[in-house]
Amino acid sequence: VIITCAEATDLARLTRFRTEAAAWLAERGSDQWSTDFPSDHVARSIQAGEVFVVQESVGAELAATITLDTETDPLLWTASERTVRAMYIHKLTVDRAFAGQRLGTRLLDWAGDRAARRGATLLRLDAWTSNTRLHQYYLDHGFQHVRTVLDPEVGGSGWVAQRPALRAEHGLDDRTAA
Ligand SMILES: CC(C)(COP(=O)(O)OP(=O)(O)OC[C@H]1O[C@@H](n2cnc3c(N)ncnc32)[C@H](O)[C@@H]1OP(=O)(O)O)[C@@H](O)C(=O)NCCC(=O)NCCS
Repeated sequence: VIITCAEATDLARLTRFRTEAAAWLAERGSDQWSTDFPSDHVARSIQAGEVFVVQESVGAELAATITLDTETDPLLWTASERTVRAMYIHKLTVDRAFAGQRLGTRLLDWAGDRAARRGATLLRLDAWTSNTRLHQYYLDHGFQHVRTVLDPEVGGSGWVAQRPALRAEHGLDDRTAA
């Protein structure tokens, strides 16, 4: 299983990750990701080399995606928290056809490893505020809940958590030239 940087031509596929996950979540009674997909923002993240995709081998169908950046949101993190070197996970999604392979777990470990190698001490994320099943997923993966931000400006994703950024054996073949 390889991980590479997403390319501009992946934008349509990345949009589909989002809409399919939203449909899957809606079936489970969640309104997570019912909001518009921020295409322009994602296109810029791809260009910045911050969007990653997972596939069985070169040319195979994309199985999962994660965005990892250093941009800290002042609505979610305090001034003192923002002084700590951290990397931020966004848009972690595993295609349902590839569920049950621990791809999410491996991507979290990969992200922590990459963050650690870049000198960050923490791996941070914000999850959909109302999705308690998802919060449990992150707690089970060693994240600690920091706070829930209910400010409407934050949108639906105000459950904020972090875990130490640690070197890890994630088992992904990293082709990102990290
Ligand atoms: C979160 C995710 C990346 C984890 O992938 P994974 O490590 O391969 O694990 P799985 O998909 O097998 O999920 C593990 C369990 O969490 C549940 N789960 C995962 N995401 C969930 C969510 N957003 N809402 C509710 N339950 C969720 C799954 O149903 C599964 O439950 P089960 O063990 O009872 O079957 C993947 O489930 C996913 O793409 N979810 C939808 C998108 C999403 O919410 N991403 C997080 C954005 S912050």
